[in-house]
Amino acid sequence: FTSPLDWVEPTEGIEPAVPLRSKKWFNSPEDDMCAGYVERFLNGGLTMGEITAKKKPIIGIAQTGSDLAPCNSHHVQLAKRVRDGILAAGGTPFEFPCHPIQETAKRPTAALDRNLAYLSLVEVLFGYPLDGVVLLTGCDKTTPALLMAAATVNIPAICMNVGPMLNGYAGSRLVGSGGVVWDSRLLLSAGKITEAQYMQRVSLSAPSVGHCNTMGTASTMNAMAEALGMALPGSASIPAVYRERGACAYQTGRRAVELVMEDVKPSDILTKAAFENAIAACTAIGGSTNAPIHLNAIAKHIGVDLTCDDWERVGYHLPLLLNIQPAGKYLCEEYHRAGGLPAIMAELIQAGKLPHPDAMTVSGQTMGDNCRGDLTNDSRVILPFDKPLMEEAGFLNLKGTLFDSAIMKTSVISPAFREQYLSKPDDPMAFEGPVAVFDGPEEYHHDIETRKDIKAGTILIMRGTGPKGYPGSAEVVNMIPPGELIKQGVELPCIGDGRQSGTSGSPSILNASPEAATGGMLGYLKDGDIIRIDLNKRTADVKLTPEEITARKAELGPYKIPTNQTPWQEIFRNLVGELSEGMVFDMATKYQRVAQVHG
Ligand code: FES
Ligand code: MG
Repeated sequence: FTSPLDWVEPTEGIEPAVPLRSKKWFNSPEDDMCAGYVERFLNGGLTMGEITAKKKPIIGIAQTGSDLAPCNSHHVQLAKRVRDGILAAGGTPFEFPCHPIQETAKRPTAALDRNLAYLSLVEVLFGYPLDGVVLLTGCDKTTPALLMAAATVNIPAICMNVGPMLNGYAGSRLVGSGGVVWDSRLLLSAGKITEAQYMQRVSLSAPSVGHCNTMGTASTMNAMAEALGMALPGSASIPAVYRERGACAYQTGRRAVELVMEDVKPSDILTKAAFENAIAACTAIGGSTNAPIHLNAIAKHIGVDLTCDDWERVGYHLPLLLNIQPAGKYLCEEYHRAGGLPAIMAELIQAGKLPHPDAMTVSGQTMGDNCRGDLTNDSRVILPFDKPLMEEAGFLNLKGTLFDSAIMKTSVISPAFREQYLSKPDDPMAFEGPVAVFDGPEEYHHDIETRKDIKAGTILIMRGTGPKGYPGSAEVVNMIPPGELIKQGVELPCIGDGRQSGTSGSPSILNASPEAATGGMLGYLKDGDIIRIDLNKRTADVKLTPEEITARKAELGPYKIPTNQTPWQEIFRNLVGELSEGMVFDMATKYQRVAQVHG
């Protein structure tokens, strides 16, 4: 045994394309602090060579799993295989915790913490001796938070998600995350099941570790990471407990080291072309309405101009190919067996509909090279491009006197909704009606069963639920009608300045920007106002004259929001922008490529 301090800098081996930034801490004899940096990292049993060798990159593992974050907790196991891959490729792994963001547990909403996790990870990636990072993603907001930070700092980075849970079953029937909650709530409201049965049904959908097994925000955002080129091809859909997931963790660790040695940074991958590919993929998978918020945010932090108009331009006319819940029938195990995201991309490429097959990815190859020819293995689950589940299945971006932007997910418009609202012979794509307004989800839950003005044709408005109003923006726009109307099979259109769960099958008009709390028109509506939505013209208007609108604003004054409960809520509210702009802190977007600019 020799001392951990005895070592000789190897002369052989791959040279990094640029000097490793970790060696500014660990191998800079001119810096008096260097010994101090080194000694404290030796105390964990590391040897000098592992941290000071000029050809050995230090790879961070951004750990989002913990007991508080059960969707991602399996990462605590998977990180062991990530470490193995990093070591095998000649790197040294440094695992560290990220601020937890558990979608189903954080009050008032997990989205409030996306920017907190983003800011804290920026500080870690910038301020510590890391050459590259493996981003362990999964639950909804973890994926955008980590990608946003990697974009700002711009050190080599690669994503790996925890993988979806196994399929849930009730008897022989598939029950998926989120969807089972919405269905069961309807049954509970209609008095068809008890509270105990409700709890039991909902639990059936979560039979293993992993993230939601439907195409909710988690599956969507991890597909987006892969479609952007930031995760290994085929990785996003592997169920959490499949052995392939461990192998994928190993390969991801290996590839992280290579990305550092090749000096491939997020800015080399996250181009406008990559975002356009991701938008196309989002339509084809029936992705969550949270995707435009998070992708617009990532784009802002890497310096790419991306708007909700791009989402409609690139995505609306494409078809839905993936038959999984909430837009379809199956769950993530079938999605994975049918070929996962590469099969979706291959179908788009073969039809000439992937905007940029030449976009570069972390695999070292282009998206086209990664996926071309990997067509669907099971055409019930991933449908061929020429026999899709639905044509024109992307998001519409609506505008008018009600707001400057709001998204509608057309792939979840049900036959019943179409029949009730979009079937007038002379005007099939428009509907109008009186509004019933709710100031937040608490008022909705309190009043929905007792209000006498809510009938078939009423348009439900949820306001005060945007980024400033309900700090972080609540997932509450998909309101269900009163029990009496549900029994008659009546659906009601919903519009709001909040978000809705990606697992919801409601064709709500949501993410309305500006929100009520920043002066948006939704904040000035009164019960009974008539509004008109025209999907052909992409318009959403209130039937008030400009003079009436001015008078209404003078009468009601600024929209009131609740007081802050924590210091972070105050900071967040003071800095945050609109959902259509990604709900980012504008001041943060001026810090670009900080690892290159500030060392
Ligand atoms: Fe965590 Fe859906 S709640 S992934
Ligand atoms: Mg959610």
